[in-house]
Amino acid sequence: MKDYNPFSLCGKTVLVTGASSGIGRGIAVECAKMGARVVLSGRNEEQLCETLSQMPLAENKEAHLVVPADLANTESIDALVAQLPKLEGVVQNAGINKRMTCQFIKEGDMQNILRTNLESPILLQKALLKKKKIADGGSVVFTASLAAWRQTPGNAVYSASKAGIIAYAKTLAVELASRKIRVNCILPGMVWTDILNNTKIDTETYRENEKTYPLGRYGVPADISPLAVYLLSEASSWMTGTSINIDGGAGV
Ligand SMILES: NC(=O)c1ccc[n+]([C@@H]2O[C@H](COP(=O)([O-])OP(=O)(O)OC[C@H]3O[C@@H](n4cnc5c(N)ncnc54)[C@H](OP(=O)(O)O)[C@@H]3O)[C@@H](O)[C@H]2O)c1
Repeated sequence: MKDYNPFSLCGKTVLVTGASSGIGRGIAVECAKMGARVVLSGRNEEQLCETLSQMPLAENKEAHLVVPADLANTESIDALVAQLPKLEGVVQNAGINKRMTCQFIKEGDMQNILRTNLESPILLQKALLKKKKIADGGSVVFTASLAAWRQTPGNAVYSASKAGIIAYAKTLAVELASRKIRVNCILPGMVWTDILNNTKIDTETYRENEKTYPLGRYGVPADISPLAVYLLSEASSWMTGTSINIDGGAGV
């Protein structure tokens, strides 16, 4: 029984987007610790290499790959996909935020958020499927957000982008079920990462709000990565089309 581990990712190759920081970095490192070979993507190559430096070798000793890409750009998506090996796992995690109340939404800001959080994952997924990069029986995980269902002032566009990706993922789950490819969404509550710096809310306000979380704190990336591992592993082989809150109880 010593080697029994239904959560193992040994023998799997997993693409993680947004692997240069925060939640994506945590997921990439955890996947490697669970035996996967990982393809790290994001725009900042230096930070991707920092993530790589925190990862053990894959269980089969195959080198992890660093493939920088700007997912807001279709040519860049195609170039990324062209460099990918066959994947047993995909974590569509890259995302941005900028808070604006509905009256002051700027068209450019709205387009950037919808592009990165909704359109780019859809276009990347299309390219992965067209180029037959996802193995039958594989698993696709989207990092959505509790914000899809829990509204706060200034977060309308971001919330819409995340609700949109959840609806998309459910359709994808139905379409890919015949190939036993599973598709699920992770919905984190507030997690201490760089994305919080772009919200015009100061740390003090976050610290106060953190106290309202039933478990008494916001998350850290290490709180999220085990759920991604679970969804990528055979342990979740009868789960598809779901969206799972992981939020210290904030969504209750
Ligand atoms: N932190 C939270 O409270 C929270 C809560 C719920 C959901 N989320 C979601 O979690 C995901 C990760 O966010 P995080 O909190 O870890 O924030 P983060 O540290 O800012 O990470 C965002 C990641 O997305 C990548 N990215 C952004 N735009 C990109 C683009 N055009 N092309 C390629 N990569 C791009 C960034 O990489 P480069 O800068 O290198 O491109 C970075 O690795 C996002 O989808 C976010 O919406 C976060």
